Amino acid sequence: MTSYKVAIIVGSLRKDSINRKVARSLCGMAHDRLACDMVEIGELPLYNQDYDADSPPEYERFRQEIASRDGVLFVSPEYNRSIPGALKNAIDVGSRPYGASVWNQKPAAIVTASPGLIGGFGANHQIRQACVFLNMPVMQHPEAYLGQVNDQSFAADGRLADGPLKDIVGKLADAFADWVHLIHQARGLLAAR
Ligand SMILES: Cc1cc2nc3c(=O)[nH]c(=O)nc-3n(C[C@H](O)[C@H](O)[C@H](O)COP(=O)(O)O)c2cc1C
Repeated sequence: MTSYKVAIIVGSLRKDSINRKVARSLCGMAHDRLACDMVEIGELPLYNQDYDADSPPEYERFRQEIASRDGVLFVSPEYNRSIPGALKNAIDVGSRPYGASVWNQKPAAIVTASPGLIGGFGANHQIRQACVFLNMPVMQHPEAYLGQVNDQSFAADGRLADGPLKDIVGKLADAFADWVHLIHQARGLLAAR
């Protein structure tokens, strides 16, 4: 079976982030089909268009890491019904210089998790909006607004505890592996025409 290399970008910089734990669990559940690595965003200087001509090494590292992957999974909290600043910064860094966006055509999925009831719906759709502009085919279903996620959602090893949330995340992992495969297969068929 083909295994695809996927970059996981977590929108929270917090050490005990529930989103990071969800991301780790999801990777574990897809490990036979997806080789997932976290690509860190906390050290990226704030995007400045002046850097396009001569970018800081952190930008170059980040862009290379994304460019080398077959897909991208965003797992993020919602901040004030919007995208956390660190994640938006990373999206902007990867999108430039103009014409050299590393996001272009990467299959993606978006998962948002929150202790709140609506599971980061606002942030999820704002990330999706950026992905539309960036020409990333984003998995439509299952939608992933994970609400009421808190410390009790995880076992002692930091993985999701058995229960409905773990089952949903397992289905997401399968669906995303299918999605990445579908996009790459379709692209191969188009190239061979
Ligand atoms: C600045 C800030 C803004 C927040 N705004 C929202 C929000 O709009 N919606 C929401 O569901 N939770 C909001 N929260 C609560 C986060 O969902 C909660 O802190 C969550 O644990 C953050 O994700 P993490 O554990 O992955 O860091 C906010 C938290 C912070 C620190």
